[in-house]
Amino acid sequence: MSPFVLTRSLPPDATAAALRADVAQGLTRSPKELPPKWFYDARGSELFDEITLLPEYYPTRAEREILITRAPDIAAASGARTLVELGSGSSDKTRHLIDALPGLEAYVPVDVSESALTGAARTLLAEHPGLTVHALVADFQYGLALPPGLPGPRLLAFLGGTIGNLLPPERAAFLAGLRARLAPGDALLLGTDLVKDPGVLVPAYDDARGVTAAFNKNVLAVINRELGADFDPGDFDHVALWDARQEWIEMRLRARRAVVAKIPALDLAVHFAAGEELRTEVSAKFRHEGVRAELAAAGLELTHWWTDRAGRFALSLSVPRSGG
Ligand code: AVJ
Repeated sequence: MSPFVLTRSLPPDATAAALRADVAQGLTRSPKELPPKWFYDARGSELFDEITLLPEYYPTRAEREILITRAPDIAAASGARTLVELGSGSSDKTRHLIDALPGLEAYVPVDVSESALTGAARTLLAEHPGLTVHALVADFQYGLALPPGLPGPRLLAFLGGTIGNLLPPERAAFLAGLRARLAPGDALLLGTDLVKDPGVLVPAYDDARGVTAAFNKNVLAVINRELGADFDPGDFDHVALWDARQEWIEMRLRARRAVVAKIPALDLAVHFAAGEELRTEVSAKFRHEGVRAELAAAGLELTHWWTDRAGRFALSLSVPRSGG
């Protein structure tokens, strides 16, 4: 078998159609709202990588600390021969896991970005000549069609706290979908950012250098380019706030004045009142018991819980409940 295979399970125009639908719905309802996945064009991915280096943005460093210190435990608990990673991006942190899994035969990175997948595969194959990389171009929110014949046990990894970008009902459906893909002996490795002092959380999403503000406003540039719109990012302020009841961070774009933006591809003009806000992201923060309960509701039993030394971020390992 060739050491590198790439499967596209996204039709080439699916992304464009999904963006049109999300913008048409999200900008004509009240309150206005867009899903965070549209941040990540080439520029947005670059800005996100920059965010992960900011002094205020701790989650990436905290998760890497756990991966480095706990990789042997994760390897022992899972015994994985296949590692599937959802939203793998550059596969940068995953390296620590791959290095620690002695019996690993196949790595299956799943991402919407084909260029990220091929780039990551090239690096990994150079470092692990025995490994088979089967990259999947797919949007993991819409059902995960794994290639057949992946050797078990399989470890499914969803890192970075990205599960927090889904709303609670989406999370429940997503976890249940993952559970349905797991056979006895398989496991799920999930990264979750933890509830902490808003004095730490808010600056992580509103950094002094304004990188997160640029990341947030980048979604307007995506809509301009893809749908021919005429948003002026300067008409909007970046807002990050902590919702203590929902225990999530929200990012919003707030109109500095009344704004009318034309979106020719949708034959639409969108009106913002001065001060009106568009929600662009929810980033939920979790507690041990909450994660356990959400996994249990999806038919998964939490077996391991690891945090960084400062207790800011957690990796959990869970397994399908028999009969569940
Ligand atoms: C790592 C994708 C989950 O919610 O913290 C970073 C994205 N948004 N700064 C997060 C993000 C604003 C991020 N994820």
